[in-house]
Amino acid sequence: MSKIIDGIKISKEIKAEIRKKISIATKKGFRSPSLKIVLVGGHGPSKIYVNAKLKACESVGIDAELISLSDNILQEELTELIKKLNKDNDVDGFIVQLPLPENISIQKVIENIDSSKDVDGFTNDNIGSITSKNKKLLPATGLGVMTLIKRYSIDVESKKCVVIGSSRNVGGAIAQMLVQREDVTVTVCNSKTKDLKSITIDADLIISAVGIPNLVTEDMVKDGVSIIDVGISRVKDSSKRSGFKIVGDVDFDSIYKKANLITPVPGGVGPMTIVSLLQNTLKVYCEKFKI
Ligand code: GUN
Repeated sequence: MSKIIDGIKISKEIKAEIRKKISIATKKGFRSPSLKIVLVGGHGPSKIYVNAKLKACESVGIDAELISLSDNILQEELTELIKKLNKDNDVDGFIVQLPLPENISIQKVIENIDSSKDVDGFTNDNIGSITSKNKKLLPATGLGVMTLIKRYSIDVESKKCVVIGSSRNVGGAIAQMLVQREDVTVTVCNSKTKDLKSITIDADLIISAVGIPNLVTEDMVKDGVSIIDVGISRVKDSSKRSGFKIVGDVDFDSIYKKANLITPVPGGVGPMTIVSLLQNTLKVYCEKFKI
């Protein structure tokens, strides 16, 4: 059996399910779900991610539109746009692609997004719902990781899971989602953890989300470990036409032989984050129209 956790394959399966649901709804006369994607400035990787999101929306029948704004937009202008999108009944969900220019506070941006349209799952209301019985729009990357665990039947019950990365929207959210299962022993580390190896070496599942290439090496893991690599970094690679390649936090080549299951980068968690965005958009749409 392949050791690769294939995010592209799973995301295609979920996209087919989403496409079917939307097709049934539109055949009944409902309008298509609608998503707006706000991109501020010309950050190269963001443009690539946003294009992938637009393409994914198109493939399932979500009506997605890109709103491109200049680098020097003011915080107040962005707030105005967010308030307009909050009020627009024809918009089911929207996201503001991160990172943002330095003069814009991400916190203020997130605070202004109506949580019922926050299909990234970044608002306090949505992140807070991880710990509630009434789950709202869950953070997209965390939702993608949990979907991979489920669809690959990764056995985490009574197992030791180490999450490397404690950011609010990603690592911290993933750790909290695992804690909520109430059957996993979860240890949360970050880029400042001393002697990381002493913690990872016992782990049955390692989820790394810090964005540091080659942080997790072969000597830090035990035989049979499962690995979910959330990291995405660009590193120089003169053999590529673009001059760079995308890598995760984990030294894939050396760990592969020890691992039970492992995500590649790219092609692991990335497509799952996008498909979770589609799932969240569908959730808003179905609840709005009581489908
Ligand atoms: N930048 C990198 N990943 C994401 C994401 O999932 N959502 C948003 N809004 N920005 C990102």
